[in-house]
Amino acid sequence: MRFSQACENNKMPILAQLKLHLAGVSKVLEIGSGTGQHAAFFAHHMKHLVWQPCDVKENHQSILAWVAQAKCDNVLAPVPFFIGVDQWYFDDVDAIYTANTAHIMQPDEVKLMMETVATHLPNGGLFCQYGPFCVSGEFTSQSNADFDTSLRQQGYGGIRDIAELQSWTPTLTLTQIVEMPANNFLLVWQK
Ligand SMILES: C[S@@+](CC[C@H](N)C(=O)[O-])C[C@H]1O[C@@H](n2cnc3c(N)ncnc32)[C@H](O)[C@@H]1O
Repeated sequence: MRFSQACENNKMPILAQLKLHLAGVSKVLEIGSGTGQHAAFFAHHMKHLVWQPCDVKENHQSILAWVAQAKCDNVLAPVPFFIGVDQWYFDDVDAIYTANTAHIMQPDEVKLMMETVATHLPNGGLFCQYGPFCVSGEFTSQSNADFDTSLRQQGYGGIRDIAELQSWTPTLTLTQIVEMPANNFLLVWQK
């Protein structure tokens, strides 16, 4: 069972938003579940939906451990799914959630994620995307600028601009940009 302090810090404010946006949703695919903390916590608090975690296989043991500890029966077994590597094989999700993945992926992977989501969401389906983003080409804080430098030095893609994401997803409408604690956003897209 791995642990992310960031997940502990952000899970409550994200849950408050997801409860609003996912009220009418029945099945959510989470791209890049990481430790599994979000999957376990959100599924436990939103019993009306089925949560499908996915990530590389190395993360599955931790995801399973968090889900077992939360004793939630509305989380499916994690599946291996990596944008740019694996084919899409989820036909019945009506929403997609991802947190802190766009600044880890390379730009071409983020573009592919946005295109993939836009292709496979049903009409009216929601994509909730959490993390740090730039606005109109600017970082929203010095700490995000420093974080971006550090990410790029480590070979990660870096913080993406919201307008750049929009340019990659003409069939998704960005319905809400919710300001979240610690200079993050929740972007709510609808197909
Ligand atoms: C910073 S972690 C975030 C994990 C978790 N969502 C959270 O908020 O703590 C980034 C995650 O994205 C996943 N990831 C990176 N590149 C990916 C890709 N191309 N396709 C799918 N997942 C990817 C990693 O395996 C990792 O679990």
